[in-house]
Amino acid sequence: MSTDALARARLRVAESVTDLIGDTPLVRLRALETDTPGVEIWGKCEFMNPGGSVKDRPAHQMILDAQRRGGLPEGQTIIDATSGNTGVAYSLIGAALGVPVTLVMPGNVSWARRKIAETFGTHVILSDPMEGSDGAIRACRKLVADEPGRYFYPDQYSNPSNPLAHEGTTGREIWEQTDGRVTHFVAGIGTSGTIMGVGRRLKSYRRDIRVWAVEPDHPLHGLEGLKHMASSLVPAIYHPDELDGVMPMSTEEAWDMCERLGKDEGLLVGHSSGAAAAGAVRLARELARAGKPGVIVTVFADRADRYFGPPGGDSAALARTATPPHPIITEAALAAIYAHARRDYPRECCGVIHGSRSTAVADDARPCRNVQDELHAVDPAGYPRDARTAYNLDTADLFALAKSLRTDRPAKIVYHSHVDSGAYFSDMDQAAAQIDGEPTYPVDHVVIDARRDGPHGAAQFAWDAQARKYVLVRRYASTPDPARGPGAITPIEPSS
Ligand SMILES: Cc1ncc(COP(=O)(O)O)c(C=O)c1O
Repeated sequence: MSTDALARARLRVAESVTDLIGDTPLVRLRALETDTPGVEIWGKCEFMNPGGSVKDRPAHQMILDAQRRGGLPEGQTIIDATSGNTGVAYSLIGAALGVPVTLVMPGNVSWARRKIAETFGTHVILSDPMEGSDGAIRACRKLVADEPGRYFYPDQYSNPSNPLAHEGTTGREIWEQTDGRVTHFVAGIGTSGTIMGVGRRLKSYRRDIRVWAVEPDHPLHGLEGLKHMASSLVPAIYHPDELDGVMPMSTEEAWDMCERLGKDEGLLVGHSSGAAAAGAVRLARELARAGKPGVIVTVFADRADRYFGPPGGDSAALARTATPPHPIITEAALAAIYAHARRDYPRECCGVIHGSRSTAVADDARPCRNVQDELHAVDPAGYPRDARTAYNLDTADLFALAKSLRTDRPAKIVYHSHVDSGAYFSDMDQAAAQIDGEPTYPVDHVVIDARRDGPHGAAQFAWDAQARKYVLVRRYASTPDPARGPGAITPIEPSS
């Protein structure tokens, strides 16, 4: 490392937290080098930025560049769509500079990330979790279009300041920290700001430095922060022709690498870092096999604890399936509740679905009695609707539900059907599921879209403590596929 870089890295003193962005350490990953003789692997510790991630750099640069151009006048709010880390960065920088921040995040973003942003005083708006980060981008663009003067929208997917931040700092630092010995750079693609900017800077020093991107190999991956390009809105700043290649990476390989980095290197990094390091190891093995030396640098974008849920929240199985922390209905249970809806059509059916407390699945559907017709017959003024447009669980069923909550197989979901009207959570459903503005039971609700020709799918709603109402968390396909096995989890249909 050059003397300059060493001097900067020592005992830093700052006028503002924003001065602590960048100049992150580079750490050698010796345990990953055991079967790659002659090839060094290094990790750039971006989790050591004050916001805990690589995104502090572009967020800071985008805000500074806008201020310099006069594009962020006093009173304007920074708004963006973010999977979390950029949101934390905006929140921190906004707080330090006294600029208000609003963030649009997919509804299934990790609890911890959302909480961190809110603690900085940021206003969080949740978009449809089914539409992922692209849905958040669309929702954000709509807010800006509706009130253009109110917001400054940095749009990290199209803003040249994003890659410029890395071209100006991260790339230069890597060059200095390796004394110009770096031969390969590997990073995951989210907005692509890191890979594009660092790639440009490194290639400006030496054209033969190889730059490889790592991309999730499946649209429904568990690598938060990274994008599967083929199924995503492609960022305007992404220019794949400038890269030497793109490596598809499975969620499993990246997760395994995270475990290895934790156990063998003492580095507790997030899944996108696991993906990047796994890519670096693949390259290192190729070089070692060919008998070539190399100095590979990869990026640790953030730390694993950013993804830890609240106590008792996410289970490992849940995280493995990369689903939000809500019980998911198995194929067999879905088939059972669809059969119930079909049987009771044109009346609403209702019931509960139980599951083991130690898993994230709901696999045991128990039809209940809808007593709405009886209530309506006895007291039509108090119960103006009959069972064609309303449901009411029998008292015995409610008692069983409440009792189950103290067992190992509690009720996790209350389901009912809507007859010919769609799978939405009506005002009446909201009211029926709450007492004094709190959820009556700690369960999700599922509404089946029952039609004459059978169910047209279902939607799941969960209590949102911030919004104080039930919100959509998942949709289920109209045809369960028993061939996938009774325990299989139903694929998510994109919401229409
Ligand atoms: C955890 C994580 N890893 C990697 C990335 C990718 O970085 P970039 O957006 O520069 O491609 C992001 C971006 O949001 C991220 O949050």
